[in-house]
Amino acid sequence: MSEKKPVIEFKDVTFWHGGGNEKPAIKNINLKIYEGDYVALLGLNGAGKTTLQLCINGVIPNSIMGDFEGEVIVYGKDTYDTPVREMAKMVGMVFDNPEFQLSQMSVAEEIALGMESLGFSYDEMVETITEVLDIVGLQGLEERSPFGLSGGQQQRLSIAAALAMEPKILVMDEPTSNVDPIGKEEIFSVAAQLNREKNMTVIMAEHEVEVMAAYANIVIVMHEGEILLNGTPEEVFSNVELIQKLGLRLPQVTEYAHRLNQLNLASIKKPYPVTLNSAIERYKDIL
Ligand SMILES: Nc1ncnc2c1ncn2[C@@H]1O[C@H](COP(=O)(O)OP(=O)(O)O)[C@@H](O)[C@H]1O
Ligand SMILES: [Mg+2]
Repeated sequence: MSEKKPVIEFKDVTFWHGGGNEKPAIKNINLKIYEGDYVALLGLNGAGKTTLQLCINGVIPNSIMGDFEGEVIVYGKDTYDTPVREMAKMVGMVFDNPEFQLSQMSVAEEIALGMESLGFSYDEMVETITEVLDIVGLQGLEERSPFGLSGGQQQRLSIAAALAMEPKILVMDEPTSNVDPIGKEEIFSVAAQLNREKNMTVIMAEHEVEVMAAYANIVIVMHEGEILLNGTPEEVFSNVELIQKLGLRLPQVTEYAHRLNQLNLASIKKPYPVTLNSAIERYKDIL
């Protein structure tokens, strides 16, 4: 079997934010992410998730002050000497606060903003705007004000604006933390659809472990700037004690499997199930 090539590779990356921080925000990061991966990034506030994500689009080390060691290679390009503008075509970013990302008078202008620097013709822009609004389920809202949209719609608009640049990688930093439950669901389903249907690589920092267990094929747990766990959801969430010690949540079915073992009510082997359906499948015989 030929070895797959990673589309993102971190080699011994350490970054200190500027201003005389003695502790690095991320340290000794070695990481390979493959095309079409859906990576869930878990960790408490301050664990280094955002810092790691900003290394993928080259904003670190090119636009944010600090000391950078190591190498990040994205689709063969070393972020250190690739202009951020160039990186933005490969890596789309969606942040946690939708309103903060929006600045234009209309939905269409919001999407056109990023495209203008890329030399699209007017007709191409109109066509692309229609297309990306369709993908995120906001068709027909071109003339609306972004500020009149719901939180979930605003976040989907941010996704549409990122998609207009035709990125291969979508980096999302707690995209659902400021939207209501319906909005959350909309965002998760758009991300899953892009991953599944367009083979887009998704790297999402997110606290909703249940959803991540269902959608992600890779889960990474960060703590104090380091990667402690990296594997399939089943492998990672089976480290129940460590995850609980870190103060992170587990999928309920995983916690349930662990509790059944602890109470000697069953003997469930690791890797534990992480979704309701996989748990039902596993327990069919016991029940
Ligand atoms: N702009 C900044 N200036 C100084 N320190 C920062 C800055 N951004 C983040 N940090 C520090 O870097 C560490 C990692 O933060 P961050 O990457 O934001 O973690 P997370 O996204 O997991 O909450 C924290 O200790 C945080 O205080
Ligand atoms: Mg963060």
